[in-house]
Amino acid sequence: MKFPFTCQLILGLTGLFIANIQAQTALGDIHIPIETQRTALVIRVDKEQIPTIVHLGTRLRNTAEYSYIPANGKRGEDYTHIYNSVYTPAGSRNLLEPAIQVTHADGNPSLDLKYVRHETQPLKDGAIVTNVYLKDPQYPFEVTLHYRAYQQEDVIEQWSTIRHTEKKPVIMHKYASANLYIPAQDYYLTHFHGDWANEMNPSEVKLTEGIKILDSKLGTRADLFQPPSFLVALNQPAEEEQGEVIAGTLSWSGNYQLAFEVDPLHNLRVLPGINPYASAYNLAPNTEFTTPAFLFTYSNQGKGGASRSLHRWARKHRIPQGEGNRLTLLNNWEATYFDFNEEKLTTLFKDGKKLGVDLFLLDDGWFGNKYPRNNDQTALGDWQENVKKLPHGLGYLVKEAESAGIKFGIWLEPEMVSPKSELYEKHPDWVIKLPNRSEYYFRNQLVLDLSNPKVQDFVYDLVNGLLTKNPTLSYIKWDCNAVIYNAYSATIQHQDNLFVDYVKGLYSVLERLRAKYPTLPMMLCSGGGGRVDYGALQYFTEYWPSDNTDAMERIFIQWNYSYFFPAIASCNHITDWGKQSIKFRTDVAMMGKIGYDIVVSKLSEAELQFSQEALKTYERIKTVIWKGDLYRLASPYTNDVASSLYVSESRDRAVWFSYLIKNRYKAGSQAPIKLAGLDPVKTYRIQELNVYPGSTSPINRETTVYSGNYLMTVGFNPQVSTRRESVVLEVTEAK
Ligand code: GLA
Repeated sequence: MKFPFTCQLILGLTGLFIANIQAQTALGDIHIPIETQRTALVIRVDKEQIPTIVHLGTRLRNTAEYSYIPANGKRGEDYTHIYNSVYTPAGSRNLLEPAIQVTHADGNPSLDLKYVRHETQPLKDGAIVTNVYLKDPQYPFEVTLHYRAYQQEDVIEQWSTIRHTEKKPVIMHKYASANLYIPAQDYYLTHFHGDWANEMNPSEVKLTEGIKILDSKLGTRADLFQPPSFLVALNQPAEEEQGEVIAGTLSWSGNYQLAFEVDPLHNLRVLPGINPYASAYNLAPNTEFTTPAFLFTYSNQGKGGASRSLHRWARKHRIPQGEGNRLTLLNNWEATYFDFNEEKLTTLFKDGKKLGVDLFLLDDGWFGNKYPRNNDQTALGDWQENVKKLPHGLGYLVKEAESAGIKFGIWLEPEMVSPKSELYEKHPDWVIKLPNRSEYYFRNQLVLDLSNPKVQDFVYDLVNGLLTKNPTLSYIKWDCNAVIYNAYSATIQHQDNLFVDYVKGLYSVLERLRAKYPTLPMMLCSGGGGRVDYGALQYFTEYWPSDNTDAMERIFIQWNYSYFFPAIASCNHITDWGKQSIKFRTDVAMMGKIGYDIVVSKLSEAELQFSQEALKTYERIKTVIWKGDLYRLASPYTNDVASSLYVSESRDRAVWFSYLIKNRYKAGSQAPIKLAGLDPVKTYRIQELNVYPGSTSPINRETTVYSGNYLMTVGFNPQVSTRRESVVLEVTEAK
């Protein structure tokens, strides 16, 4: 075997040590590298058939050299030799947080998992799947670890399948999706927290010995307080374009747990998965349990590198039509709330057309007759048009919208039920609630029991029925406003399976709908951003980040979601929440999929003209924003001016957004901001977009052509100031 020079040197200097490893290797060590273009996760199986992780980071050029990594890949020796287990089983010799804990059919509370075999398979989409088969030597209990390595996008998706053939069910107390192991000097965890209208506030903490847990116990709307997405920076706090960062996110829309354990040797163990809380899962013999997938990417180009990888992956492999088109829309929620009728709506259709959007989205309040939906106290579950508000039904509205020249979409909250509804009267056993406790409501409503196949059919039939009756219905906003209180199902056999089977039931409904309606645009909403995760986003084309649409707040909220989710999926609406100018609100909304939730007739002539022109501009530049690489140039947390740049793949076009965040005297972009991601050799012209009618742009007076090298080294001043609070620039290759 030929080794590179440095390696030969190491071989020479540490001959004895290497020989040892080689001897071990000869005795039966197996190394299983799970590699993408730049990253590798390496599993070592020793002669006892125990699988551990010995490397997670940059991929080596020579795969054979993975066997040189010191036997355990960790800092120091541990008592059990499994601190770095690839999937830590509880109850035998483990001393740390387990990945899996079970009680066997015979009552034995221990598990041991030994390597049996592995296989690797290339897939059509360019990913490579590696399956590692593990088995308990004493019990017919098996776990398969699956790793799907997306080569170009540098993302690894990991999940497990668990099965057994014991005589009776096995109780699974914990069943994580992954069990990563990362040795570094220090670990800085960035996690995100908040509440309604206050989503995604970041906190960066240095992890110390012990366990830090991020979780949800809310059941539905599970991300209300925090999402299952995080960043871990190694050795130093996370930086935007340099340093080692792992971005991770769990594809699960229910209770989750992310455990970060710094072990006694100061290595980091990351255990993401379904929350074990109230979920000791009863697994029948011969059935297979599949954990949700954990997605992660390793970057040595900071947070920016990590998010660009996730965005590329999500557009290409996860979000429906991730590389396709999206519809601009006018929503009536903030314009009318529950107070509308056919006449009002048909006027709004015309307004939408005048504005220039593709679709009108009818929000909450259109249904319920015995208990009309005139406020949020009634009618969820009674999905029939309210005859007073809509005497001619939805079909009429769809046609009216179409004759006004725009498409029609509708709001639904299919998983929920109002206590005041005919559905609840007819099917009290379809509702999640404890028989011997008084009902407790979240937004005056309860959650339907989606672990029950009859309820799954009801939800499927509701959506399918609407789409069958109105085949040109073009958009669905799927909301989910309540959490699960008093978790109890009238029909499920094992109550502890409820939280998990609810989500599986929901996914099976969405799976059926997607099979029949693969291209239907659907917005994922959960009282704002209560459900933004890649489990749900396999079914939805876009998500609603927050009910808070104040443009200043949105700069921060969208900034934080952008670590994980691409602009094409972010629904950004222009509303009257904030006091900013229509230009500022429009510029902020353009950093994603634009929509409106305003009374168009109240816009001044100049505001309307600006908006109409902005929509035309958006049409021209949207692909750069949706499909380009994002560079977060200046953070709103540390600067007067926040700045983000989207660069097209061929680096010939970029769209650059900058906003004034602080309003003090002289606040603004005092100095040039350095661009990124351009081609240093190409030359570019800079043109200001969204210039408000009647004003002129100081930038558009210039005709200078700059090299990418200049713009990335010296930078350019977008001239943001208290008189120019938001600036959108188009950077185009000068040919
Ligand atoms: C939730 C959504 C809003 C709106 C209302 C309607 O709060 O987040 O956008 O649809 O429900 O009740």
